[in-house]
Amino acid sequence: MRRYLLATLCVTALLTVAGCASHQATLYERLGGQSNIDAVVENLLYRIADDDEMVGFFANSNIDLFAESLATQLCDVSDGPCRYEGPPMDRAHQHMGLTDVHFNRLVEYLDAAMQEEGIGLGARNELLGRLAPMYADVMRLQ
Ligand code: HEM
Repeated sequence: MRRYLLATLCVTALLTVAGCASHQATLYERLGGQSNIDAVVENLLYRIADDDEMVGFFANSNIDLFAESLATQLCDVSDGPCRYEGPPMDRAHQHMGLTDVHFNRLVEYLDAAMQEEGIGLGARNELLGRLAPMYADVMRLQ
């Protein structure tokens, strides 16, 4: 009986370990979930605000709505529980006069914001890698 109990315990322990090992954290989890994504967006906004050229693009924007929309998009892109339902990236950025310089600076600020909010290199690169294909859409209607 004791042996049987011991064996049952061992099997249970093994299954638990295997279960834990097979749970791959989503990118959303590795970014720290929604509260940390919101912190990253806020951090990014401060960097944009400190950049005279970049802040000019947002002169007529409702910053709260923009922040909410971007946070939802980052949640969606990182396999979190959100669906981005805002305008497609080409229409959202049309006729702004954006160049590669602006695009690269935004990526640089986003990376720095993520770093400051404690996100590791792997997760940072993975998120930037998922945003990179949006380059063509953002630039299409400039
Ligand atoms: C991969 C790169 C980018 C992503 C993922 C992105 C994402 C977004 C999102 C989600 C919105 C909100 C759309 C809406 O709900 O109406 C938006 C709008 C906007 N973005 Fe970007 N963006 C990118 C690049 C840039 C760059 C390089 C700039 C230049 C500074 C920029 C400036 C703006 C501005 C000014 C708005 C309009 C805000 C408004 O008034 O509604 N974006 N972007």
